[in-house]
Amino acid sequence: MEQFIINGDTPLFGEIKISGAKNAALPILTASLLADGPVTISNVPHLHDVTTIMTLLAKMGLEFTVDEQMNIEIDPNTINDFTAPYELVKTMRASILVLGPLLARHGEACVSLPGGCAIGSRPVDLHIEGMKALGADITVDNGYIHASVKGRLHGATINLEKITVTGTENLMMAATLAKGTTVLKNAAKEPEVIDLANFLNTLGADIRGAGTHTITIHGVDRLTGGQYRVLPDRIEAGTYLAAAALTRGRVKVKGIGPDLMDSILCKLADTGAHISSNCGWVELDMQGNRPKAVDINTAPYPAFPTDMQAQFVALNALAEGTSTVIENVFENRFMHIQEMQRMGANIKLEGNTAICTGVDSLNGAPVMATDLRASAGLVIASLMAKGETVVDRIYHIDRGYECIEEKLSMLGAKIQRINNKNIKS
Ligand code: UD1
Repeated sequence: MEQFIINGDTPLFGEIKISGAKNAALPILTASLLADGPVTISNVPHLHDVTTIMTLLAKMGLEFTVDEQMNIEIDPNTINDFTAPYELVKTMRASILVLGPLLARHGEACVSLPGGCAIGSRPVDLHIEGMKALGADITVDNGYIHASVKGRLHGATINLEKITVTGTENLMMAATLAKGTTVLKNAAKEPEVIDLANFLNTLGADIRGAGTHTITIHGVDRLTGGQYRVLPDRIEAGTYLAAAALTRGRVKVKGIGPDLMDSILCKLADTGAHISSNCGWVELDMQGNRPKAVDINTAPYPAFPTDMQAQFVALNALAEGTSTVIENVFENRFMHIQEMQRMGANIKLEGNTAICTGVDSLNGAPVMATDLRASAGLVIASLMAKGETVVDRIYHIDRGYECIEEKLSMLGAKIQRINNKNIKS
């Protein structure tokens, strides 16, 4: 079992390059199933979740060529299996994103239900109801979604009861090859949804309105092959900038502009950080000052992202003042708080609200990562803790942060990955 050993109390200084966005790369890779020719995707981050989706696509028979820069060429025509098995779906819920493309292009799909996960129940009912509205026959049996359609899916108006990112993406993908027009109402506006729509349009789809709450998809007969570059990861960038604020340092993230990160940068500015940017970079300078506490209310884009909540809890744990952090998207996304309390944080949990009273310093302790963003919160808290912190179960962080220890080391952090074979999972 791998762990990070972090010796804290060191400000971060320097520049790093931001990787491609995990949450755009995953749906784009599954969308390649819709094409009838080879697709080449570049700027794909080297992450466990990307490996999982490629393993899933390879199991379905797809062939890949991957070069050293993670440009991935996919041949979708070698598919021979339409199943997403439990063993893979349970490790990554985003595997559900094969449902729409398989149904639309091949008329059948058998996808395991994802089940629960560390941050809440996370149902996929809206994906299923939406596919039914597009004409799919769906039964759920023995933990699997069995979906089929005779001929083509047909366009429909779908009013999504709740804003769902992968639900919007799954239905948008399914609708590209449907007969007629689909209108998705109350759609997610996340930049990764726009990136997926841009990719599909590059292949010949007719999708309008991505980035608004109403997306209109005019179904086309086929999608061709093509090339596409994945947009940068705003959550990765936000995590490093939050780490810079918390450690009172100065960090420039390159390869991303401020436009994708408005709500995150506003909150960072409220901590007292000096932020400068142009279209290709963002720099945060704390000028050695202690950050001020900021209130956070998570909600779908363009509001503050739930995927940055744990990192801001870490920041507030050490900031000047008291703050409230309200988690509105997932019901159980506060697993990091108990671990931060073990480091000396003064945080009280009341339902979906964390009340953080900033302390002068945290102390290193053994802590356990419970999910991807919780791990990021623990790592950045450790960067400012006195003494040594051992972060266990870091496989969670490898799901979503490319070369995190290399990038943090380049910024001056004292972080080391060890493989402790004596620790049982
Ligand atoms: C995506 C992101 C994840 C992020 C989340 C919220 C990817 C691969 N993952 O996850 O990083 O934290 O958006 O921004 O892009 N819901 C239902 N029924 C459904 C679908 C969702 O009730 O059928 C609920 C969920 O339980 C949750 C809310 O809707 O409370 C939002 O979830 P959703 O946007 O679907 O999250 P994901 O797409 O799984």
